[in-house]
Amino acid sequence: MKPKTNSNHNTGSFDLAAYFSAKRRLIDNRLESILDDHSVPSRLYHAMHYSLMGSCKRIRPILCIAAAEAVGKGASETVMGVSCAIEMIHTYSLIHDDLPAIDDDDIRRGRPTCHVRFDEPTAILAGDALLTLAFEILSEPFRSFEDTDNARLLAIIAKIAKAAGNRGMIEGQMRDIFAQGVETDLESLKNIHDLKTGAMIDAAVVSGAIAGGGTGEQTNALSTYARSIGLAFQVADDILNVEGDPEIMGKSIGTDKLRQKATYPALIGLEQSKKYAAELVSTALQSLSIFDKKAMPLHAIAKYIIERKR
Ligand code: IPE
Ligand code: IPE
Ligand code: MG
Ligand code: MG
Repeated sequence: MKPKTNSNHNTGSFDLAAYFSAKRRLIDNRLESILDDHSVPSRLYHAMHYSLMGSCKRIRPILCIAAAEAVGKGASETVMGVSCAIEMIHTYSLIHDDLPAIDDDDIRRGRPTCHVRFDEPTAILAGDALLTLAFEILSEPFRSFEDTDNARLLAIIAKIAKAAGNRGMIEGQMRDIFAQGVETDLESLKNIHDLKTGAMIDAAVVSGAIAGGGTGEQTNALSTYARSIGLAFQVADDILNVEGDPEIMGKSIGTDKLRQKATYPALIGLEQSKKYAAELVSTALQSLSIFDKKAMPLHAIAKYIIERKR
C-alpha cells in the first residue's frame, strides 16, 4: 500500500502512510488471533485465512478505528473487535463477488481468487463462515470486555447487520448483477453504489463512532462523511477498473466493460467521474468541520480514497 504521505489538514501535516501501517499491523494481528482462536486447522480454515490475509488495504477497519479516534476513544478492545468483524464481512463479500456466478474473477488481493485456489464449494462456505464468525466476534465484547455498554454494542450489531444485508450490500449486489447490459440512469447507478459499497463503509465509520462513545451529533456528521466517501470509493474503483495498473491493484482491469457493468465511467466518462468523486470528497470533508484535530486521519483517508492507485 502506498498512500500519499503529505495529505494536509488545516491543523498541520499528517503522515497517512505511517498511520496506515501502524493500524494495519494491529488489525492483521487481531485477525490472525481471531482465526486461530475460533477455528481448527482445516480446508475451511485455510480458505478463510487465505482470503482474509491477502494483500489489501484494510480501509474499512481503519475507518472504524479512525472514527473512534475522532470522537475521542481510539482503538479500544471493542473498537478492534468491531473493526475486524467488518473486515471479515467485507472479505466474505469479495469471495462471493468473485465467484463464477457473480463477477467471475480470477485474481483478488494479488493472488488467485478463493474459488480458483481452492474450489467453488469451499469458497462459498469460507465466505459463509467469515460472515458468521464476524457476528460471533461482535457479540464477544459482552463477555470479554467492559469498555462499551451493551446498548451501544447492540446498536453496532444492528447497524452492521442491516448494512451487510438485504437493505444494504446484498441488495446492491443484486442490482449490480441485474443492471449488467441494461441501460441504467445516474440515480439508479448512485443507488447501486450506495448499497453495494456505501452501506458497509457507513457501517464501519458509524460503528467506530458508537463504540468510541460518540454523541448523536458526532455520529450523524460521521455518517454523512461516510456516505460521501463510500460513493467516492466505488467511483474510484470503477475508474481504476478502466485505467488502473493490475499489478498494483492485485486484481484484473477492464472487467466492468467486458461484463457491461453499470459504472460511472461507462455512463458519464472518465473525466466527469473524477470530477464527481472529487466533489464527493469535498462534501465529506465539510462534514468533519465539527471535529478537532483527532479527525485528521479521516481527512487524510477521504483524500486518499480518490488518489489511490489500488
Ligand atoms: C473492493 O474493496 C470492493 C469494493 C467495494 C470496491 P477494496 O478496494 O477495499 O478491496 P481490498 O479490501 O483492499 O482488497
Ligand atoms: C464489489 O464491487 C462490491 C462488493 C460488495 C463486494 P465490485 O465488483 O465493483 O468490486 P471489485 O472491482 O470486484 O473489487
Ligand atoms: Mg461485483
Ligand atoms: Mg467484482
